[in-house]
Amino acid sequence: MDKHFYISTPIYYVNDVPHIGHAYTTLACDVLARYKRARGFDVCFLTGTDEHGQKVETAAKANGETPLELADRVVKRFQSVWEKLNISHTDFIRTTQERHKLAVTEQFRKIEAAGDIYLGYYEDWYCTPCETFWTETQLLDGTCPDCGRPTSKLKEESYFFRMSKYQDQLIQHIEENPDFIQPKSRRNEILSFVKEGLRDLSISRTSFSWGIPAPGNEKHVIYVWFDALTNYISALGYPDDKDGLYKKFWPADAHVIGKDILRFHAVYWPTFLMAAGLPLPKKVFAHGWWTVEGQKMSKSLRNVVEPNMLIDTYGVDAIRYFLLREVPFGLDGDFSHSSLISRINSDLANDLGNLLSRSTAMLGKYFGGVLPQPGAADDVDSAFTARFPKAVKLLDKQYSDMAFNKALQTIWELISSGNKYIDETAPWALAKDEGQQERLATVMYNLLEAQRLIALLVAPFMPDTASKMLETLGCDKDDVSLEGRDAWGGLQAGTEISKAQPLFPRIEAE
Ligand code: MSP
Repeated sequence: MDKHFYISTPIYYVNDVPHIGHAYTTLACDVLARYKRARGFDVCFLTGTDEHGQKVETAAKANGETPLELADRVVKRFQSVWEKLNISHTDFIRTTQERHKLAVTEQFRKIEAAGDIYLGYYEDWYCTPCETFWTETQLLDGTCPDCGRPTSKLKEESYFFRMSKYQDQLIQHIEENPDFIQPKSRRNEILSFVKEGLRDLSISRTSFSWGIPAPGNEKHVIYVWFDALTNYISALGYPDDKDGLYKKFWPADAHVIGKDILRFHAVYWPTFLMAAGLPLPKKVFAHGWWTVEGQKMSKSLRNVVEPNMLIDTYGVDAIRYFLLREVPFGLDGDFSHSSLISRINSDLANDLGNLLSRSTAMLGKYFGGVLPQPGAADDVDSAFTARFPKAVKLLDKQYSDMAFNKALQTIWELISSGNKYIDETAPWALAKDEGQQERLATVMYNLLEAQRLIALLVAPFMPDTASKMLETLGCDKDDVSLEGRDAWGGLQAGTEISKAQPLFPRIEAE
């Protein structure tokens, strides 16, 4: 069977610098991409930058540079932060690339030819910072319901997309595909929004020029969301598909996004695709938002948390672990240094790190660091080893539900049971008794084999840590594939295993 998997992050605006909100979405996709690879899938993992629109044009002007100069500068910051965060994307799309402009133009043409794009006049209340038109009833005391800033009445010639035509088809699709929009609460929100009625959508602007021109009418620039959403297929080489990527990977398995941009992904994008006669993505998953120490993250509050600073302070795997462990994916969460530090100390240094250092130290002491052949299992051993195949199976389900925090809980239950197994079997007592050599060998084997499996299971979340663990255990540190390697008993007796260096030093909170 040809196993392939396509996952995407949103493309990030270049008028902002990367912060933990961006890192969060990208990280979640990375974990899933790594897991799927370990399961033998050919993975397309797309991220990139959204570089057109009035905001970028204005920001560039204020900096005395061209929009493209600004984009070239900021895109590097995204690329370097993803490298530092160990993100394993397979492609990076920029909306200023030729391949993207080509796809957007073609998509526009195609929908226009189908009769679903027409020229008209648009008049409504416009919020410039948000690039969004609002109806009178949506305004809050005359201001933008999203950002609270003043809006102004704007009338301009515009191309419209006949979104209203697709209302019933979209409702039907959402109802027939319960997993299309997740989590469920968000799905219900979208469903009632669509049922209230879809208006036709203005999809061009004449008020600025930084964007892709409408084909055949250069006065118009294609609206940012029509432009941006198309990235998910332009990166695959749509429409020419010279490399066969579109054929192979579309429809996407999952678009992972934040809750603020769900409507664009669950209403606009599917209806654009319907009009173009293309299949819809299988899943759109909207995660929650992070606040910082209880407050909304914003430039004006000067509390924006930058991934670079976090990684330098705490290490990349600690951050990767924390962001996905702390909050159920789909709900809002709060970032604080104190909860990060307490997770590092308890879950990483104590539970995971100690298990490895205790067991490798004992192996050194009792068997000169050479893994012994295990003897017969007793009840304590069987109860311990039986946990692993169960966890492996459960994890697969938790990954497909994008329940990252639960997946980490599942792995941490294995780690705790490892620490408990040491207490129950008391190897130090067995070591004092000549007659218990075989028993001691069994216990030590089980402990170290358990950690081979734990290393493979944590690898999607903490790739560097997994490598270190595997190296300590005398395994190939770069091979984290799970296919055929997730069953008990992979470690060979006779393997030399040295005493582990601490994986995570404890952090003293200031
Ligand atoms: N350019 C659009 C997306 C186009 S996709 C075809 C965009 N860009 S963005 O840079 O503003 O935001 C990208 C993502 O960052 C969104 O998914 C958003 O939810 C996420 N986050 C921004 N701030 C966030 C938090 N404070 N917490 C969690 N995620 C947040 O929107």
